[in-house]
Amino acid sequence: MAKDLSERPDGAAADWTMPQDWDRYSAAEHAMWDRLFERQARMLPDRVVPEFIAGLDVLRIDKPGIPNFDALSERLMKATGWQVVAVPGLVPDALFFEHLANRRFVAGRFIRSPDQIDYLQEPDVFHDVFGHVPLLVNPVFADYMQAYGEGGLRAMRYGAIHRLARLYWYTVEFGLIRDAGELKLYGAGIVSSYGESVFALDDPSPNRIGFDLKRLMRTRYRIDDYQQTYFVIDSFRDLLRQTLETDFAPVYAELETLADIEADAIVAGDVVISRGTQAYARQSGSKTLLF
Ligand SMILES: [Fe+2]
Repeated sequence: MAKDLSERPDGAAADWTMPQDWDRYSAAEHAMWDRLFERQARMLPDRVVPEFIAGLDVLRIDKPGIPNFDALSERLMKATGWQVVAVPGLVPDALFFEHLANRRFVAGRFIRSPDQIDYLQEPDVFHDVFGHVPLLVNPVFADYMQAYGEGGLRAMRYGAIHRLARLYWYTVEFGLIRDAGELKLYGAGIVSSYGESVFALDDPSPNRIGFDLKRLMRTRYRIDDYQQTYFVIDSFRDLLRQTLETDFAPVYAELETLADIEADAIVAGDVVISRGTQAYARQSGSKTLLF
């Protein structure tokens, strides 16, 4: 996700991309990818939206290990016209949106170390590629990501990036979807996390609420732990349609007059799919990193 960053790192081009340098990964780094891949690929089939499983094939390039972004882009380009480009880490908002608007997904090059297997502060190549790329094979989701980038560029002009960031957070990163009457995962932050893949669907702690664009853009989120609320979409097509049909400028103006909603709150008008106990959030450590 984008953040405010002022200095371009050494070795990055003006748009902050850089070569992936695939040949420089060590055997241990490739092995870490394989370990994470195998663990998630084994656990996800009953939990994740079928479109994700269909898209996973694009990651099975020629050999095990961290995918080569060039090979990945070649396949993606054929499917939906997307590419994967390497960046040093988080990139400034304007560039992040610009890349998405042009169907370029920016991915971190580094992979987590063994002591970070279940917790990471910055997204690594496993999160970015395993988590995000499979759904870019789906034409509707691919269009949604581009629409999001275009919306981001417009939101900058209205000073409303923080509102739109919530849309990314609660859909692209932590979204749930209804599939044939059952809840399934599709957000990259969930599907790339072993613990949250279980928590988001099975745990009684979080709220699960029907997707409502305006409500969602008022809702704060936490970056330090599992989410306290998940929003459930009906379909990718509906998510894309709502994003394209909404005139965001008046919505941003209206939201300025309304208070934010806390990450764990249920409010009037919510379509509550499950009301969370918030027991997990109450008993787990410090909970201060809210946006
Ligand atoms: Fe992400």
